[in-house]
Amino acid sequence: MAGITGITPEFKNSDLIRKGAFVDGQWLETASETFNVTDPATLEVIATLPDQSIEVIHEAIDSAAEAFRLFKKTTPKTRSTWLRNLYNLMMENVDDLAKIITWENGKALSEAQGEVKYAASYFEWYAEEAVRMYGTTIQPNNGSNRAFTVRQPVGVCGIICPWNFPSAMITRKAGAALAAGCTVVVKPDSQTPLSALALAHLAEKAGFPKGVFNVVLTATRTPEFGLALCESPKVKKISFTGSTNVGKILMKQSASTMKKLSFELGGNAPVIVFDDADLEQAVTQTILSKFRGLGQTCVCANRIYVQRTIIDSFAEKLAKQVNEFVIGHGLDSKTTHGCLINENAIKKVEAHVKDALEKGAKTVVAGGRLPELGPNFYAPTVLSHVPSTAVVNKDETFGPLCALIPFDTMEEVVGYANDTELGLASYVFSKNIDTVYTVAEALETGMVSCNTGLFSECTIPFGGVKESGFGREGSLHGIEDYTVIKTITIGNLPAPL
Ligand code: SIN
Repeated sequence: MAGITGITPEFKNSDLIRKGAFVDGQWLETASETFNVTDPATLEVIATLPDQSIEVIHEAIDSAAEAFRLFKKTTPKTRSTWLRNLYNLMMENVDDLAKIITWENGKALSEAQGEVKYAASYFEWYAEEAVRMYGTTIQPNNGSNRAFTVRQPVGVCGIICPWNFPSAMITRKAGAALAAGCTVVVKPDSQTPLSALALAHLAEKAGFPKGVFNVVLTATRTPEFGLALCESPKVKKISFTGSTNVGKILMKQSASTMKKLSFELGGNAPVIVFDDADLEQAVTQTILSKFRGLGQTCVCANRIYVQRTIIDSFAEKLAKQVNEFVIGHGLDSKTTHGCLINENAIKKVEAHVKDALEKGAKTVVAGGRLPELGPNFYAPTVLSHVPSTAVVNKDETFGPLCALIPFDTMEEVVGYANDTELGLASYVFSKNIDTVYTVAEALETGMVSCNTGLFSECTIPFGGVKESGFGREGSLHGIEDYTVIKTITIGNLPAPL
C-alpha cells in the first residue's frame, strides 16, 4: 500500500512504553489472547498487548477496593504531594508522552504536546484542590443541636475513556478522584491504551500506593468490562467520556447499584458568527475549534452558522487558511494536521459531505481522501450555503468537514442551534456585548465560548446539558463529583452560657 511507512519515534525514557495492564501494583503482560495497537497513519502494529479476561477487571476492582481502605485515610496534603509529583513527572516527560499520543492517535505532535501539558495541568490543579475540600456549618432550627457537613471520597471509581484525548480524558477524571481520596480503575480505549499505561507507570513513580491507580486492557471485551464496572457493588462511581448511546447503556447498567455517575457525551457544537464580529478573528478561532484533532473532539465546531451578509467573505478567508494546512504523519515536524483514527471516521465525513452536496451546498474546498499518505488521511472539506435540512445539522460529523450554514436573524439562529438533543459546547462571535450576552444566555449548552474557539483548561467547569451528559470536570466543581456530603449533627447540647 502507498503511504508513509516506518516512522518510529525515539524515546528518551523507554520505561514509559509498557507492555501490560497495571493491576494491584503489578504489570500483567500475559494473557491467552492479545490485541494489536496500530499507528493510524500507517496501520503498522506498534504494540501487542494482553486482551484480558473478565477475571482481570474483577481483580482490579478488588485491588482498588482494598487500597481504598487506607487511601481514604491519607491526608489531603499527602495526596496533594503525590499529585504534584505526578504533574512534575509528566512535565519532565512531555516529549515522550506526546510522541506516544501521536503514535497511537495520529494527531500532530505539536497538538499532542499541547495535550500532555493540558493533561498534566489537571494533576497540578487537583494537587491544589485536594487541600481545599470544604464543608459547611449549619444552624439547625432545634436550638440544642449543632450541625456541619464534611465531604468524603465516594469510593472506587470506574473511569472509562475515549481515544481522542488518550491522556487528558484520564487525568481530568483521575486527578479529581485521587485528590478526593478515591481509588480508580481506568479502562482506556483499545485504540489508544499506551498513554494510559505510561500514566500508570508515572503514578507509581509519583508515590501512589498499589491498587490506587489501576489500568485494565481489552479490545474484545469492552462491553463486559463496562458491565462489570457498572454492576459491581464495590464500584461507587462511573465517569465516562464517549458517545451518548454508550452513556445511556452505562446508565441503565448502573441502576442496580445506584451509582454516582458523570458523563461527558456527544456534542454537535454550533458556532454562530454575526456580521458585527471581527471577521479575521472569527475565521481563525472557528478553524481552531473545527480542526482541533482534525474535528475529532466533542467540543469541535460542527454546525457553523454565518450571517448571510458575510457568509461568502467568511468562506473565502476560511478557505485560504485551510489550504495552508500541512497534512501528514503526526510525527513529522512539518505536519500541522495528522490523520483520522480509522476508516469509519472517514466514511462518516464522506457521508455528511455527500448528503450536504446533494441538498444543494456549495463546495469551497473540495478536500477528500489522501490515499497517497495513507488510508486514514483526509484533507478538510469546506462547504458553504449548507441547507438546514442537511444531516450535519443533526448529527456530529466528528471529522474535518467545515459546514457553513447561512442565517438572517438572532431568533432564527438560536432556534437552529438549540434544535438538538445535545448540549455540550457552543460558540458565539460578535463585538456587540448585548448580542454576545443575549445569545450566550439563550443557548442550551453546558459551555458557551464567546469570541474564542479554544476555551478548555483545568480552571473551567467542563460538561454538558441535555443528552450531552451531566457532571462537571475540572475547576473548583470537578472534585465534588468524587465526593459525598456527610451531615453530622450533635444534639442535646446544654443551653448556651
Ligand atoms: C472531548 O473531546 O471530549 C474533550 C475536549 C476538551 O477537553 O477540550
